[in-house]
Amino acid sequence: MPAGFQGQRVVAFESRFAEEMASLISRHQGVAQLAPALAEAPLEQNVGAIRFGERLLQGEVAVAVFMTGVGTRTLMDVLQGRYRKPDLLGALSRATLIARGPKPIAALRALGLSTVIPVPEPNTWREVLEVIDTSEGCPNLSGLTVAVQEYGTPNRLLLEELRRRGAEVLQVPVYRWTLPSDTGPLYRAIDALIEGTCRVVLFTNSMQVSHLFQLASQKQKADALRRALNHAVTASIGPNCSQALRRELVRVDLEAGQPNMACLVEEASRKAAAIPQDEGVQPSSRVVVSVEVESGTAVPRTFSRLDNSVFMRACRRQATEYTPIWLMRQAGRYMAEYREIRSRTSFLGLCKNSDLAAEVTVTAAHRLGVDAAIIFADILLIVEPMGLGLTFEGGDGPSIQGVIRSQAEVDRLSEVIPEESLSFVFDAVRKARAGLRPDLPLIGFAGAPFTLASYITEGGGSKNYVHTKELMYRHPGAWDSMMQLISRSITRYLNGQILAGAQAVQLFDSWAGCLSPEDYRRSVLPYTAQVIENIKPRVPVIYFSTGTGGYLELVGSTGADVIGVDWRIDLARAWARIGEGQAVQGNLDPLVLLGDRDSIAEKAGEILERAGGRPGHIFNLGHGVLPQTPVDQVLRLVDAVHERSRKARLSG
Ligand code: CP3
Repeated sequence: MPAGFQGQRVVAFESRFAEEMASLISRHQGVAQLAPALAEAPLEQNVGAIRFGERLLQGEVAVAVFMTGVGTRTLMDVLQGRYRKPDLLGALSRATLIARGPKPIAALRALGLSTVIPVPEPNTWREVLEVIDTSEGCPNLSGLTVAVQEYGTPNRLLLEELRRRGAEVLQVPVYRWTLPSDTGPLYRAIDALIEGTCRVVLFTNSMQVSHLFQLASQKQKADALRRALNHAVTASIGPNCSQALRRELVRVDLEAGQPNMACLVEEASRKAAAIPQDEGVQPSSRVVVSVEVESGTAVPRTFSRLDNSVFMRACRRQATEYTPIWLMRQAGRYMAEYREIRSRTSFLGLCKNSDLAAEVTVTAAHRLGVDAAIIFADILLIVEPMGLGLTFEGGDGPSIQGVIRSQAEVDRLSEVIPEESLSFVFDAVRKARAGLRPDLPLIGFAGAPFTLASYITEGGGSKNYVHTKELMYRHPGAWDSMMQLISRSITRYLNGQILAGAQAVQLFDSWAGCLSPEDYRRSVLPYTAQVIENIKPRVPVIYFSTGTGGYLELVGSTGADVIGVDWRIDLARAWARIGEGQAVQGNLDPLVLLGDRDSIAEKAGEILERAGGRPGHIFNLGHGVLPQTPVDQVLRLVDAVHERSRKARLSG
């Protein structure tokens, strides 16, 4: 068994302990290529902090929320360097101070400030709001200025909620780290990775990730860098750093067992040694990697071919040779192969038999020639482990027994442990992944919190959602606990599907269109956004809803990478409202498939035109394929989308 890096080049971004890092790498037979990615920011560069200081001393800041320990300390250092301490302390003690956890509390205490409202655990932005709404020491925010110290990405949902309470929000970005003055080594590291001359990369903190991508994007090399990192051994020192990498859609091959450099280098050298040397260094040559899944079995994944597939590239808004297409409900009763299998078992029996579910998934995707498969399951499977009954009988759609319409009933719902109760879905994902073409991505899915909530309060489909809205309006506490339970359950369920081998996930919010924009914003969006934020490992998330054209901006702010739109809205207008930063999926009326062959190609062409060949369009229907659809018509659609979009790219 070979040991160490065996003379390979190893890129590391460590700054303060660069020398130690270099010697650790050479002790493990590696050649260090150091590219320090951070330098300490001069305090006076923190203009956000200075603006805050000025308004604070003028008595204009009524409430200040301190989100992080490092940020609070940096902010206080800047302020102490500029203002007299008694003035500063006086101004701060006249404001209401809220600290999100023990670290900012300690930073404020170090300055002698002890009258601070603490935010209870788990210290998320929700508890911050709870303290603001319920604490006696906190004034009503209407008309007041609330300063929010932020470190890293601003918390959009918190800011939005504060504004809704009538506050003027003063964002106070503070940072301790900046790019080093000499960025040459960083650019050289980016090039070495892209060229494939270096295939081991060590990250020792999360800021290195954002600096690296910041520089790469300036040179239009972010995509190439992402690809290169996904083909290298990318090692991270700990969970924050891994999360930053996943946010950039970079796969983390290894997270150090202990958060120190020695452990990181040791483990990375072992991982690097396990890759055969003769694989060469070109990104395209490394294909099979194993990922440990919770059950202890290893899933082989052909990462590069999947990751570079047309569908995955479109999710990331990268250019593709043609527009990818897949169809919601592509495996279903309209297809003879499905009906044949289904004649032998009930619908639920089919979902729970992982061999059959995998077979249905793979057969449909291969038969249609689409660019992604979706795992065969149903959004309602999760209601059984919540303690409710589920039946699909007589073609009337689903029926749920034991509906939830009060706090007492919500209290009886069980928390879902999908590894136990829905393991058949994870098995189906593993089996489908193994049976699919190695370049065909597999989409996992779940119902979105609102659509699932509507099913379990109504007991089935509904016209007016009377019970759902009644619970939402009359029992907001019960609504909140039910939505939280559902959100936690589906987060865990989706993350399990990713671990089992899904390359992307879709949340179906089929019934969200029955809501007013304000109800959606207040009672649905925060939960959906929370689920999406907690998807890990980070893969593209598609959020699909219907009838939400009245508030697409809100739908676009869920944090999903791809937004599914229905046919009731023009695709170009929808995309403009969602924003260029997100990919879109859609949006052919499923009934077009019942029309004649020519009109199918024509209408598909119209949608492609609306998308204008911009990267980030995934073709789909605006809702699922209907059972009466002729399969030939679906094949016609898939061909038309591929042909027309390919031609348009060539001529454009
Ligand atoms: O191919 C795929 O898209 C994957 C499989 C899939 C099914 N349901 C299989 C299914 C997916 C992604 C779903 C999602 C789903 N299920 C949604 C969201 C999408 C949407 O259509 O809005 C919803 C609301 C459900 C709930 C559900 N399941 C309903 C309302 C019905 C009955 C309607 C019908 O078409 O019969 C189902 C049953 C169901 N789910 C079938 C299939 C193939 C038909 C069942 C059968 O074979 O008898």
